[in-house]
Amino acid sequence: MKSYHITTLNEFIIRRQADFPYAKGELSRLLSHLGIAAKIVSKKINKAGLVDILGESGEVNVQGEEQVKLDLFADQTFISALKASGEVCGFVTEENSEIITFEDNLSRDGKYIFLMDPLDGSSNVDVNVSVGTIFGIYRRVTQRGHLAGQEDFLQEGSRMVAAGYVIYGSSTMLVYTTGKGVNGFTLDPSIGEFCLSHPDIRMPETGTIYSINEGHYARFPDGVKRYIKYCQEIDPPTSRPYTSRYIGSLVADFHRNLLKGGIFLYPSTAKAPSGKLRLAYECNPIAFIAEQAGGKASDGEKRTLDQKPTSLHQRTPYYVGSLRMVELLEEFLQQNS
Ligand code: AHG
Ligand code: MN
Ligand code: MN
Repeated sequence: MKSYHITTLNEFIIRRQADFPYAKGELSRLLSHLGIAAKIVSKKINKAGLVDILGESGEVNVQGEEQVKLDLFADQTFISALKASGEVCGFVTEENSEIITFEDNLSRDGKYIFLMDPLDGSSNVDVNVSVGTIFGIYRRVTQRGHLAGQEDFLQEGSRMVAAGYVIYGSSTMLVYTTGKGVNGFTLDPSIGEFCLSHPDIRMPETGTIYSINEGHYARFPDGVKRYIKYCQEIDPPTSRPYTSRYIGSLVADFHRNLLKGGIFLYPSTAKAPSGKLRLAYECNPIAFIAEQAGGKASDGEKRTLDQKPTSLHQRTPYYVGSLRMVELLEEFLQQNS
């Protein structure tokens, strides 16, 4: 008889705990609380066109950008769900200039710190285009029982223990890694469960999609300009010209390239020498996923996950995607210097 058993996120998390023989279930608890928050935020985003939740909240975040209300809703929902798990001692998010800690004993005792972009691509919400949540989880380096400190959050990305994203698209999906491959779960709204739909995701070694905001072309480094021209050249044996696809939500652009093969570029520009994207809670988690799926992420020279952050909200040039495509892009950048 054909089996119709589906694997839910929680079943999967529990099963995977066995991969870490000394695990006490702390990360598992954290991840299941994260799944709950993702469902709440997904529901809210689905209703965004119906209820009076759109529009500017009137506050300006640390990047000097206006926050829409859903950014704040997502921020608060994830923080309170993860605080309730008792496993997180501190948070850094795009919406808060400083570290968030809590005085209660449960929080002080938490083993993990949590970084996130609660709503990525949020300007896309009012035009009904995919947005996401990006997160990275580290073990704290300060002692349990105390408040988390700056040093907990300035760890290299290579020390991450788990990372992932939620994409609120035509379906809501949670994609995450704990360093043993990448798995994707699609939310089945009829049962309210994330179900394993994309086991062991592998990123194609190369692809035919490049994703970049070409409006900034004139300000890009010469190596990037030449790479774009390379992508556009006609050369059927190498499947060129490539296809250009740019949504304007890192999560959505990366997710497509992860499944189909491609490269996402957010270079430094003459106006913004460090680029736009934030190392700690945008670039690093996506880099961890990319590497775990066989892809690559760098700032054009150095591996993204090897950068030692010096401040919580620092930006970095960012190139992520299929291994061969990122390697070639790096060659173009080097030829230029
Ligand atoms: P956020 O909504 O969290 O501020 O992030 C938007 C980011 C990222 O998702 C996207 O790749 C990039 O901004 C798009 O920037 P441009 O509009 O400059 O292309
Ligand atoms: Mn973002
Ligand atoms: Mn954001």
